[in-house]
Amino acid sequence: MAQVKRAEVNGLEMAYADEGQGEVILLVHGFPFDHTQWAPQIAAFSGNYRIIAPDLRGHGQSQAPPGPYPMDLFAEDLAALRKHLGVEKVILGGLSMGGYIAFAFSRKYPERVRALILADTRPQADTPEGAKGREDAARAVEKEGTAGAIERLLPKLLTKQSLESRPEIAAQVQTMMERCSPQGWAAAQRGMAQRPDSTPLLSQISVPTLILVGEEDLLTPPEDSRKMHSLIPGSRLEIIPGAAHVTTLEQPQAFNRILSSFLESLG
Ligand code: MLT
Repeated sequence: MAQVKRAEVNGLEMAYADEGQGEVILLVHGFPFDHTQWAPQIAAFSGNYRIIAPDLRGHGQSQAPPGPYPMDLFAEDLAALRKHLGVEKVILGGLSMGGYIAFAFSRKYPERVRALILADTRPQADTPEGAKGREDAARAVEKEGTAGAIERLLPKLLTKQSLESRPEIAAQVQTMMERCSPQGWAAAQRGMAQRPDSTPLLSQISVPTLILVGEEDLLTPPEDSRKMHSLIPGSRLEIIPGAAHVTTLEQPQAFNRILSSFLESLG
């Protein structure tokens, strides 16, 4: 397991992993996860790259100041961490909400992005019903805590087969979600509800881009990834069998094989 470091950035005490040396890969986890979502990638790639994987505000071991947390705010936190660590450019990877944040970061700081990895994510904004559902969920979590929300979310994150036959993966995902405080949970939900449509950005992306998605992802289905692939010039699309939403943990070998080939192609 990577050692957790801490820094004061953008007025926030942020926890992060920073392993290895070389070109920097900045990995941004999804909601309501933390940097351990990337544990198999940190282990596999820190021999040849410097992997920086923060816990976003409100998640994992980072502070949870009052929200909401718009995607631009998360991107500003990442930019401040980049500066603090003396890094110029990053290969930027994001899963799900991490992908929404990667879009925000690419809009604000395009000169800092050398390549993009978009995992189990989507470009579009929430529908009005989706945004209302998030507000209802935020209020419920503020009132009752996160246990009920975790119970409802877990079955959507992994395949039925993994849930039935790989209890250790289910436990790992559950424990990771338990580290997200009710305040952080609600603030991220409200931030995601406000996010803009990133579809117009896609045709402007000019860096090498890898898109990955679990074949059985119900939250950000392969259809969304196909759409991104059709709009991002020169992008590469890989659909991972036997995986739902948290592909990094559910099918780490397949994920890492694809990522390794993409990184090699960057030269
Ligand atoms: C995530 O995994 O980050 C979430 O499923 C994103 C979302 O709720 O839209």
